[in-house]
Amino acid sequence: MEKYYWDTQLEYLKRTRDLYYNDDYLEFLVNSVWKISKPVHIIDFGCGYGYLGLKLLPLLPKGSKYTGIDKGQQLINKAIEYFHSLPYESKFFVADIEEIEIEDKYDIAVCHAFLLHISEPQKMLQIMVNSIVNDGKIICFEPHWISGMSSYELGGYEQSQIVPLGILQKLFEESKTDGNIGAKVPKYLSELGVKNIECRVSDKVNFLYSDKNQQDKKKLFYSLKEDGVGGELINKDQFIESLTNRGVTLKEAQEQFEAELLFSQVFNMDSSLIYAPSMKITFGDIKKC
Ligand SMILES: C[S@@+](CC[C@H](N)C(=O)[O-])C[C@H]1O[C@@H](n2cnc3c(N)ncnc32)[C@H](O)[C@@H]1O
Repeated sequence: MEKYYWDTQLEYLKRTRDLYYNDDYLEFLVNSVWKISKPVHIIDFGCGYGYLGLKLLPLLPKGSKYTGIDKGQQLINKAIEYFHSLPYESKFFVADIEEIEIEDKYDIAVCHAFLLHISEPQKMLQIMVNSIVNDGKIICFEPHWISGMSSYELGGYEQSQIVPLGILQKLFEESKTDGNIGAKVPKYLSELGVKNIECRVSDKVNFLYSDKNQQDKKKLFYSLKEDGVGGELINKDQFIESLTNRGVTLKEAQEQFEAELLFSQVFNMDSSLIYAPSMKITFGDIKKC
């Protein structure tokens, strides 16, 4: 039987999460923005190996609990293994969230890089909202690809040579999954009656430079590569065909190929690169009475 895709992506997930947030920013959100002062029970939709839980639980009041749901059995096995030795009450379920009933007993529903993989994100947000108790909170960390793509600077090259934004804007709009979902969640939540909605942006700006400590440089370089920065290209004809099928002209597809080829050829461990993924973090309050 074919393996479930995300069960094959543990290394990708583990290597790339550190590109998004500084720990002090998450601490700031928990304590100064969300002001979480009492123990809470969090449910993480599409939790993967439990990334958000591993980051948030140490910051939350003692006694807080974490429940994670994901379709990937291997990812959930990893999450159970990670949480086994930690002092937090946790529960994990392997399930397709679109096909199960979730109790409405959680104080906070969270998701990270999840809604972009869901064909009907508004329905999923409703499921998340339904799982939360009165006066609870929903928090969605989701990508805004076009914003991330505009946040590159590679030493020695104009941005337009390596990341032509106009074509990408069209491609993202034609993509099967909505990589710009992060910028739409605020509106979707307001349509669902969520109150006090706010949206923030991820704080981390990754800086690779030749003088950086060798170990940190290597770690960052491979995280960036794993996230697709300056990634290797597949066959040119296949590349161009897949792009023209998504609505760009042949000329634009060829230009995109040249830009990505240049990026992959010139980007190396001694490059000077700035990259800010610019995730959107949207949150709001649930009022059921
Ligand atoms: C990009 S990964 C993010 C994982 C984790 N939140 C993180 O940031 O490390 C997307 C996750 O959503 C899960 N997923 C997608 N659709 C799902 C569904 N219908 N039910 C449960 N999990 C789902 C996948 O299995 C995958 O682990």
